[in-house]
Amino acid sequence: MAGAASSYGTRSEGGRYGGARAADFALRGTMGTEMNNTARILDGVKIAAEIKAEVAAEARSLAAVGITPGLAVVLVGHVAASEIYVRSKVKASAELGIRSEMLTPPESVTTEEMLALIAELNARDEVDSILIQLPLPAHVDTRRLLEAVSPEKDVDGFHPINAGRLQSGRPALAPCTPAGIMEILKRSGLPVTGQHAVVLGRSDIVGKPAAMMLLNASATVTVCHSKTVDIGRYTRDADLLVAAIGKPGFVTADMVKPGATLIDVGINRVTDAAEVARFFPGDEARAAQFAQRGSTLVGDIHPAAFALAGAYTPVPGGVGALTIAMLMHNSVKAAKARRGPGRHHSAGDRA
Ligand code: GUN
Repeated sequence: MAGAASSYGTRSEGGRYGGARAADFALRGTMGTEMNNTARILDGVKIAAEIKAEVAAEARSLAAVGITPGLAVVLVGHVAASEIYVRSKVKASAELGIRSEMLTPPESVTTEEMLALIAELNARDEVDSILIQLPLPAHVDTRRLLEAVSPEKDVDGFHPINAGRLQSGRPALAPCTPAGIMEILKRSGLPVTGQHAVVLGRSDIVGKPAAMMLLNASATVTVCHSKTVDIGRYTRDADLLVAAIGKPGFVTADMVKPGATLIDVGINRVTDAAEVARFFPGDEARAAQFAQRGSTLVGDIHPAAFALAGAYTPVPGGVGALTIAMLMHNSVKAAKARRGPGRHHSAGDRA
Protein backbone atom coordinates (compact mmCIF):
# COMPACT_ATOMS: atom_id res chain seq x y z
CA MET A 1 0.00 0.00 0.00
CA ALA A 2 2.49 2.58 -1.16
CA GLY A 3 -0.36 5.05 -1.50
CA ALA A 4 -0.99 4.82 2.20
CA ALA A 5 2.67 5.47 2.91
CA SER A 6 2.50 8.49 0.63
CA SER A 7 -0.48 9.89 2.48
CA TYR A 8 1.66 10.05 5.61
CA GLY A 9 4.20 12.04 3.67
CA THR A 10 1.53 14.39 2.42
CA ARG A 11 0.23 14.88 5.91
CA SER A 12 3.53 16.09 7.29
CA GLU A 13 3.73 19.78 8.00
CA GLY A 14 5.29 21.98 5.35
CA GLY A 15 4.90 19.39 2.62
CA ARG A 16 8.42 19.68 1.17
CA TYR A 17 8.59 15.92 0.88
CA GLY A 18 4.82 15.53 0.60
CA GLY A 19 3.85 12.29 -1.09
CA ALA A 20 7.46 11.15 -1.43
CA ARG A 21 8.28 7.44 -1.34
CA ALA A 22 10.41 5.82 1.34
CA ALA A 23 13.22 5.19 -1.11
CA ASP A 24 13.61 8.93 -1.62
CA PHE A 25 15.01 9.40 1.85
CA ALA A 26 18.32 8.57 3.45
CA LEU A 27 18.36 7.66 7.11
CA ARG A 28 18.92 10.74 9.21
CA GLY A 29 21.02 10.73 12.33
CA THR A 30 19.90 12.17 15.65
CA MET A 31 17.97 15.32 14.92
CA GLY A 32 16.92 18.37 16.90
CA THR A 33 13.65 18.41 18.75
CA GLU A 34 11.81 20.44 16.13
CA MET A 35 9.11 18.68 14.15
CA ASN A 36 10.39 17.79 10.72
CA ASN A 37 9.02 16.14 7.65
CA THR A 38 12.08 14.22 6.59
CA ALA A 39 11.55 11.03 8.56
CA ARG A 40 12.26 8.05 6.35
CA ILE A 41 9.22 5.92 5.61
CA LEU A 42 9.95 2.19 5.78
CA ASP A 43 7.81 0.79 3.00
CA GLY A 44 6.61 -2.61 4.23
CA VAL A 45 4.73 -3.34 1.04
CA LYS A 46 7.89 -2.99 -1.04
CA ILE A 47 9.96 -5.14 1.33
CA ALA A 48 7.18 -7.77 1.47
CA ALA A 49 7.14 -7.87 -2.34
CA GLU A 50 10.92 -8.51 -2.39
CA ILE A 51 10.56 -11.36 0.10
CA LYS A 52 7.62 -12.87 -1.79
CA ALA A 53 9.64 -12.81 -5.02
CA GLU A 54 12.45 -14.69 -3.25
CA VAL A 55 9.97 -17.21 -1.82
CA ALA A 56 8.42 -17.77 -5.26
CA ALA A 57 11.90 -18.45 -6.69
CA GLU A 58 12.57 -21.01 -3.94
CA ALA A 59 9.20 -22.65 -4.53
CA ARG A 60 10.10 -22.93 -8.24
CA SER A 61 13.40 -24.61 -7.32
CA LEU A 62 11.53 -27.11 -5.18
CA ALA A 63 8.96 -27.66 -7.93
CA ALA A 64 11.86 -28.49 -10.28
CA VAL A 65 12.66 -31.50 -8.07
CA GLY A 66 9.01 -32.50 -7.73
CA ILE A 67 8.19 -30.88 -4.38
CA THR A 68 5.28 -28.51 -3.89
CA PRO A 69 5.31 -26.87 -0.45
CA GLY A 70 2.02 -27.60 1.33
CA LEU A 71 0.38 -25.33 3.90
CA ALA A 72 -2.70 -26.32 5.92
CA VAL A 73 -4.66 -23.45 7.47
CA VAL A 74 -7.17 -24.24 10.20
CA LEU A 75 -9.90 -21.63 10.69
CA VAL A 76 -12.41 -22.34 13.45
CA GLY A 77 -15.84 -20.69 13.38
CA HIS A 78 -16.59 -17.31 11.85
CA VAL A 79 -14.41 -14.55 13.30
CA ALA A 80 -14.61 -11.84 10.61
CA ALA A 81 -11.02 -10.58 11.03
CA SER A 82 -9.66 -14.15 10.99
CA GLU A 83 -11.60 -14.94 7.81
CA ILE A 84 -10.03 -11.92 6.09
CA TYR A 85 -6.50 -12.86 7.26
CA VAL A 86 -6.91 -16.48 6.20
CA ARG A 87 -8.21 -15.52 2.76
CA SER A 88 -5.10 -13.35 2.28
CA LYS A 89 -2.85 -16.23 3.37
CA VAL A 90 -4.50 -18.67 0.95
CA LYS A 91 -4.31 -16.12 -1.90
CA ALA A 92 -0.62 -15.38 -1.25
CA SER A 93 0.14 -19.11 -1.23
CA ALA A 94 -1.44 -19.58 -4.64
CA GLU A 95 0.52 -16.65 -6.07
CA LEU A 96 3.85 -18.00 -4.84
CA GLY A 97 3.52 -21.67 -5.77
CA ILE A 98 2.58 -23.01 -2.35
CA ARG A 99 -0.28 -25.50 -2.25
CA SER A 100 -2.65 -24.48 0.51
CA GLU A 101 -5.71 -26.10 1.97
CA MET A 102 -8.19 -24.67 4.39
CA LEU A 103 -9.88 -26.64 7.14
CA THR A 104 -12.91 -25.02 8.74
CA PRO A 105 -14.19 -26.79 11.84
CA PRO A 106 -17.32 -25.25 13.37
CA GLU A 107 -17.26 -22.90 16.36
CA SER A 108 -18.53 -25.84 18.48
CA VAL A 109 -15.43 -27.99 17.80
CA THR A 110 -13.91 -29.58 20.90
CA THR A 111 -10.29 -29.69 21.97
CA GLU A 112 -10.29 -33.45 21.37
CA GLU A 113 -11.62 -33.06 17.83
CA MET A 114 -9.00 -30.40 17.10
CA LEU A 115 -6.27 -32.67 18.48
CA ALA A 116 -7.42 -35.43 16.12
CA LEU A 117 -7.36 -33.01 13.17
CA ILE A 118 -3.86 -31.81 14.06
CA ALA A 119 -2.63 -35.40 14.41
CA GLU A 120 -3.95 -36.11 10.92
CA LEU A 121 -2.15 -33.06 9.49
CA ASN A 122 1.05 -33.96 11.33
CA ALA A 123 0.95 -37.41 9.73
CA ARG A 124 0.39 -36.28 6.12
CA ASP A 125 3.69 -36.04 4.26
CA GLU A 126 2.52 -33.50 1.67
CA VAL A 127 1.55 -31.08 4.46
CA ASP A 128 4.76 -29.23 5.33
CA SER A 129 3.28 -26.54 7.53
CA ILE A 130 0.26 -26.10 9.77
CA LEU A 131 -1.27 -22.79 10.81
CA ILE A 132 -4.02 -22.63 13.40
CA GLN A 133 -5.58 -19.20 13.07
CA LEU A 134 -5.96 -17.45 16.43
CA PRO A 135 -7.95 -16.59 18.41
CA LEU A 136 -9.73 -19.88 19.00
CA PRO A 137 -13.08 -20.13 20.83
CA ALA A 138 -12.69 -19.78 24.61
CA HIS A 139 -13.81 -23.37 25.29
CA VAL A 140 -10.88 -24.76 23.28
CA ASP A 141 -7.50 -25.32 24.98
CA THR A 142 -5.34 -23.19 22.69
CA ARG A 143 -2.03 -23.96 24.39
CA ARG A 144 -2.60 -27.68 24.18
CA LEU A 145 -3.39 -27.43 20.49
CA LEU A 146 -0.35 -25.29 19.69
CA GLU A 147 1.83 -27.83 21.50
CA ALA A 148 0.27 -30.64 19.46
CA VAL A 149 1.50 -29.21 16.14
CA SER A 150 4.68 -30.95 15.04
CA PRO A 151 7.53 -28.45 15.64
CA GLU A 152 8.87 -29.07 12.12
CA LYS A 153 5.46 -28.02 10.69
CA ASP A 154 4.91 -25.14 13.12
CA VAL A 155 4.89 -22.35 10.54
CA ASP A 156 3.90 -19.74 13.17
CA GLY A 157 6.82 -20.61 15.44
CA PHE A 158 4.43 -20.86 18.42
CA HIS A 159 5.46 -24.34 19.65
CA PRO A 160 7.51 -24.22 22.88
CA ILE A 161 10.31 -26.10 21.12
CA ASN A 162 10.57 -23.39 18.49
CA ALA A 163 10.25 -20.65 21.14
CA GLY A 164 13.09 -22.35 23.03
CA ARG A 165 15.20 -22.61 19.90
CA LEU A 166 14.74 -18.90 19.26
CA GLN A 167 15.56 -18.09 22.87
CA SER A 168 18.80 -20.07 22.73
CA GLY A 169 19.81 -18.61 19.36
CA ARG A 170 19.35 -21.86 17.43
CA PRO A 171 17.80 -21.89 13.97
CA ALA A 172 14.02 -22.18 14.24
CA LEU A 173 10.74 -21.47 12.57
CA ALA A 174 10.20 -18.03 14.08
CA PRO A 175 6.96 -16.05 14.61
CA CYS A 176 6.13 -14.17 11.42
CA THR A 177 5.45 -10.61 12.61
CA PRO A 178 8.67 -10.17 14.62
CA ALA A 179 10.62 -11.95 11.88
CA GLY A 180 9.14 -9.38 9.49
CA ILE A 181 10.30 -6.54 11.74
CA MET A 182 13.86 -7.89 11.62
CA GLU A 183 13.67 -8.09 7.81
CA ILE A 184 12.53 -4.44 7.64
CA LEU A 185 15.49 -3.38 9.78
CA LYS A 186 17.99 -5.53 7.88
CA ARG A 187 16.82 -4.66 4.38
CA SER A 188 16.66 -0.95 5.24
CA GLY A 189 20.23 -0.99 6.57
CA LEU A 190 19.14 0.20 10.01
CA PRO A 191 21.53 -0.56 12.88
CA VAL A 192 20.50 -2.96 15.65
CA THR A 193 23.80 -3.94 17.28
CA GLY A 194 24.39 -1.84 20.39
CA GLN A 195 21.12 0.07 19.96
CA HIS A 196 18.72 0.46 22.85
CA ALA A 197 15.62 -1.34 21.59
CA VAL A 198 12.44 -0.82 23.61
CA VAL A 199 9.60 -3.26 22.96
CA LEU A 200 6.11 -2.30 24.11
CA GLY A 201 4.07 -5.45 24.69
CA ARG A 202 4.94 -8.95 25.89
CA SER A 203 2.64 -11.20 23.86
CA ASP A 204 3.85 -14.64 22.81
CA ILE A 205 3.08 -13.72 19.18
CA VAL A 206 4.94 -10.40 18.90
CA GLY A 207 6.46 -8.75 21.99
CA LYS A 208 8.42 -11.64 23.49
CA PRO A 209 9.81 -13.07 20.24
CA ALA A 210 10.61 -9.55 18.97
CA ALA A 211 12.59 -8.87 22.15
CA MET A 212 14.42 -12.16 21.72
CA MET A 213 15.28 -11.52 18.08
CA LEU A 214 16.56 -8.03 18.90
CA LEU A 215 18.65 -9.46 21.73
CA ASN A 216 20.03 -12.14 19.40
CA ALA A 217 20.97 -9.30 17.04
CA SER A 218 22.95 -7.67 19.88
CA ALA A 219 20.58 -4.84 20.79
CA THR A 220 20.19 -3.82 24.43
CA VAL A 221 16.55 -4.68 25.00
CA THR A 222 13.94 -3.28 27.38
CA VAL A 223 10.45 -4.80 27.42
CA CYS A 224 7.61 -2.61 28.70
CA HIS A 225 4.08 -3.87 29.37
CA SER A 226 0.80 -3.04 31.06
CA LYS A 227 2.36 -3.07 34.53
CA THR A 228 5.39 -0.95 33.64
CA VAL A 229 5.50 2.29 35.63
CA ASP A 230 6.13 5.40 33.48
CA ILE A 231 6.63 3.84 30.07
CA GLY A 232 7.78 7.18 28.62
CA ARG A 233 10.89 7.01 30.78
CA TYR A 234 12.03 4.02 28.72
CA THR A 235 10.67 4.99 25.30
CA ARG A 236 12.39 8.38 25.45
CA ASP A 237 15.72 6.55 25.60
CA ALA A 238 14.90 4.15 22.75
CA ASP A 239 17.00 4.24 19.60
CA LEU A 240 14.62 1.63 18.25
CA LEU A 241 11.02 1.44 19.45
CA VAL A 242 8.71 -1.48 18.66
CA ALA A 243 5.10 -0.77 19.67
CA ALA A 244 2.84 -3.84 19.90
CA ILE A 245 0.18 -3.13 22.50
CA GLY A 246 -2.98 -2.60 20.45
CA LYS A 247 -3.78 0.88 21.77
CA PRO A 248 -4.36 3.52 19.08
CA GLY A 249 -1.86 6.38 19.21
CA PHE A 250 -0.48 5.28 22.61
CA VAL A 251 3.07 6.49 21.91
CA THR A 252 2.88 10.26 21.71
CA ALA A 253 5.54 12.64 20.35
CA ASP A 254 6.79 13.51 23.83
CA MET A 255 7.61 9.81 24.41
CA VAL A 256 9.97 9.53 21.44
CA LYS A 257 13.68 10.28 21.11
CA PRO A 258 14.23 12.47 18.04
CA GLY A 259 15.83 10.48 15.24
CA ALA A 260 14.69 7.12 16.64
CA THR A 261 13.50 4.24 14.47
CA LEU A 262 9.79 3.64 15.16
CA ILE A 263 8.30 0.25 14.32
CA ASP A 264 4.51 0.28 14.68
CA VAL A 265 2.88 -3.14 14.93
CA GLY A 266 -0.54 -1.78 15.92
CA ILE A 267 -3.42 -1.94 13.48
CA ASN A 268 -6.33 -0.28 15.28
CA ARG A 269 -9.57 0.59 13.54
CA VAL A 270 -10.86 3.98 14.69
CA THR A 271 -14.53 4.74 14.03
CA ASP A 272 -15.00 7.94 16.05
CA ALA A 273 -14.79 11.14 13.95
CA ALA A 274 -13.45 13.25 16.83
CA GLU A 275 -10.69 10.72 17.43
CA VAL A 276 -9.76 10.71 13.74
CA ALA A 277 -9.55 14.53 13.79
CA ARG A 278 -7.36 14.33 16.90
CA PHE A 279 -4.97 11.84 15.29
CA PHE A 280 -4.84 13.48 11.86
CA PRO A 281 -5.50 17.23 12.23
CA GLY A 282 -5.63 18.95 8.85
CA ASP A 283 -5.18 15.67 6.94
CA GLU A 284 -7.78 16.00 4.21
CA ALA A 285 -6.96 12.69 2.54
CA ARG A 286 -7.51 10.85 5.81
CA ALA A 287 -10.74 12.77 6.49
CA ALA A 288 -12.04 11.90 3.03
CA GLN A 289 -11.15 8.23 3.53
CA PHE A 290 -12.94 8.24 6.89
CA ALA A 291 -16.02 9.91 5.39
CA GLN A 292 -16.16 7.22 2.71
CA ARG A 293 -15.46 4.14 4.85
CA GLY A 294 -16.61 5.16 8.31
CA SER A 295 -13.30 4.07 9.82
CA THR A 296 -9.57 4.48 9.46
CA LEU A 297 -6.53 2.61 10.73
CA VAL A 298 -4.21 4.02 13.38
CA GLY A 299 -1.15 2.32 14.78
CA ASP A 300 0.02 2.21 18.39
CA ILE A 301 2.21 5.24 17.67
CA HIS A 302 0.55 8.65 17.38
CA PRO A 303 1.01 10.00 13.85
CA ALA A 304 2.52 13.22 15.27
CA ALA A 305 5.38 11.16 16.74
CA PHE A 306 6.41 9.92 13.30
CA ALA A 307 7.50 13.43 12.36
CA LEU A 308 10.25 13.20 15.01
CA ALA A 309 11.53 9.84 13.88
CA GLY A 310 14.62 9.05 11.85
CA ALA A 311 12.63 6.27 10.20
CA TYR A 312 9.23 4.70 10.78
CA THR A 313 6.80 2.10 9.54
CA PRO A 314 3.44 3.58 8.46
CA VAL A 315 0.03 2.10 9.28
CA PRO A 316 -1.15 0.66 6.98
CA GLY A 317 1.70 -0.30 4.68
CA GLY A 318 4.36 -1.09 7.29
CA VAL A 319 4.80 -4.17 9.48
CA GLY A 320 1.39 -5.63 8.58
CA ALA A 321 2.53 -6.32 5.03
CA LEU A 322 5.42 -8.45 6.28
CA THR A 323 3.44 -10.96 8.33
CA ILE A 324 2.08 -12.87 5.34
CA ALA A 325 5.38 -12.59 3.44
CA MET A 326 7.17 -14.21 6.38
CA LEU A 327 4.49 -16.88 6.67
CA MET A 328 5.16 -17.76 3.05
CA HIS A 329 8.90 -17.72 3.76
CA ASN A 330 8.41 -20.09 6.70
CA SER A 331 6.18 -22.40 4.63
CA VAL A 332 8.89 -22.89 2.02
CA LYS A 333 11.55 -23.18 4.73
CA ALA A 334 9.57 -25.96 6.43
CA ALA A 335 9.13 -27.79 3.11
CA LYS A 336 12.85 -27.54 2.32
CA ALA A 337 13.82 -28.77 5.77
CA ARG A 338 11.41 -31.70 5.65
CA ARG A 339 11.67 -32.76 2.04
CA GLY A 340 14.15 -30.56 0.19
CA PRO A 341 17.28 -31.81 -1.55
CA GLY A 342 20.33 -32.11 0.66
CA ARG A 343 18.42 -31.78 3.92
CA HIS A 344 20.51 -32.90 6.83
CA HIS A 345 19.01 -31.21 9.87
CA SER A 346 17.00 -32.90 12.55
CA ALA A 347 13.33 -32.00 12.94
CA GLY A 348 12.83 -28.32 13.60
CA ASP A 349 16.52 -27.59 13.16
CA ARG A 350 16.56 -25.44 10.08
CA ALA A 351 18.74 -22.56 9.10
N1 GUN B 1 -3.96 -14.26 14.66
C1 GUN B 1 -3.44 -13.02 14.60
N2 GUN B 1 -2.15 -13.06 14.20
C2 GUN B 1 -1.86 -14.37 14.00
C3 GUN B 1 -0.68 -15.04 13.57
O1 GUN B 1 0.38 -14.46 13.29
N3 GUN B 1 -0.80 -16.40 13.47
C4 GUN B 1 -1.95 -17.06 13.77
N4 GUN B 1 -1.94 -18.38 13.66
N5 GUN B 1 -3.05 -16.46 14.18
C5 GUN B 1 -3.00 -15.11 14.28
